[in-house]
Amino acid sequence: MKKILIINGPNLNLLGKREPDIYGTLTWDEMLEQLRSKFSGEAEIEYFQSNHEGDIIDRLQTADCDGVVLNAGAYTHTSLAIADCIAAIAVPVIEVHISNVAAREEIRRRSLIAPSCRGVISGLGLQSYMLAIQYFLS
Ligand code: DQA
Repeated sequence: MKKILIINGPNLNLLGKREPDIYGTLTWDEMLEQLRSKFSGEAEIEYFQSNHEGDIIDRLQTADCDGVVLNAGAYTHTSLAIADCIAAIAVPVIEVHISNVAAREEIRRRSLIAPSCRGVISGLGLQSYMLAIQYFLS
């Protein structure tokens, strides 16, 4: 059984309530339940969320798993520290987004962390996470 760690960054704890026209109406608990049930028997999915940059870095540094699915939220566009951390660790990281960041404001079209990641999946809602997990299982 593969071990996958999902890390969600700032404000992703508000999914379901937060700008539902952009991020949908599912709560994160509902999304995580769907992910765990889809991959039951294939992947053990651990989850961590933080609104704090340093906490995300601490969790990445201690990641002991086959792959990390990271939605760094707005830190995607600003955090050289998270980018450095991803480059420093051996565990592969996939950057995911619920919304299509390429179709949004100019600042969201730039990712500081993407060059350190194995790949990027954006704009597919819950399926962004599913596809990233599928990659680690393949
Ligand atoms: C997001 C996109 C980011 O630009 C934004 O700051 C978020 C969520 C997404 O999943 O679509 O918080 O990462």
